[in-house]
Amino acid sequence: MTIFVGAVDLCVALKSVPGTEYVPRALNMGGGGVAPTTFGAADGRVGGEKPSGWVTAVDANTGAVRWKYHSDTPVIGGVTPTAGGIVLTGDNAGNFLVFDSDSGKVLLQRPTGGALAGGVVTYARAGKQYVAFTSGNVSPTAFGAVGRPSIVVMALPATAATTVATAADPTRGKQVYTQACAGCHGPEGDRIAGKDLKSIKTRMNAQKIAAFILNPVLPMPRIFPEPRIAEDERDLHDVVAYVASWP
Ligand code: HEC
Repeated sequence: MTIFVGAVDLCVALKSVPGTEYVPRALNMGGGGVAPTTFGAADGRVGGEKPSGWVTAVDANTGAVRWKYHSDTPVIGGVTPTAGGIVLTGDNAGNFLVFDSDSGKVLLQRPTGGALAGGVVTYARAGKQYVAFTSGNVSPTAFGAVGRPSIVVMALPATAATTVATAADPTRGKQVYTQACAGCHGPEGDRIAGKDLKSIKTRMNAQKIAAFILNPVLPMPRIFPEPRIAEDERDLHDVVAYVASWP
């Protein structure tokens, strides 16, 4: 097993000053020697040292260093290893970085315009793999390039379609209803006066119900906005079957 850590390499002289008061929301160092304003100075220098960073892979059993990557700027963002054998992180210059977990080889280095100083998450939806992180660190203790705060989402090309056309499934539709509709329409479908879904079948057929859900009358929100992926189509199909199954 391997542990991956990010680090800030920075040398500063700190002097402990007994009795230093804690100041909420400030950079509290318990003394003097380094002024908080020195952090993020235009040239990034603190006491003559330019802060830099490391990403290090450490053998969890022996503590041996497997590989090390040096960055010109601190690495304070989250470091996310995946089961697929890659490590995702970024540096304060705003580079999103992807490493091969075993060798430490840089597989991707992409500038994002702002320091990566938060977590990096990866998730799949409808057969497509995504990576999301924040870029642009506005923390008062940030070092270096701050950038404009943004959320960046990247995606890999979708794998082969994961949903096959199936007959509408009202049981699955009930789950969709509970998640997406019951909050307004109530678990029994009768919470909105005059628009009770329990008797919808007497007013609309399945096709009309689906058309209404896609183009609803306000304040009913658009639950399935464009662009719709296959999973949305299936959810729509199934929830209509459920609503239309009420006697
Ligand atoms: C945020 C609240 C909200 C949510 C969530 C919501 N609806 Fe509605 N829905 C409404 C309101 C309000 C109306 C009445 C609109 C109008 O005045 O015609 C309505 C109307 C409808 C109607 C037409 C009823 C009629 O008799 O004309 C259908 C069908 C319907 N909703 C289905 C759904 C389904 C299925 C879902 C979940 C996928 C859903 N709604 C989610 C608020 C909501």
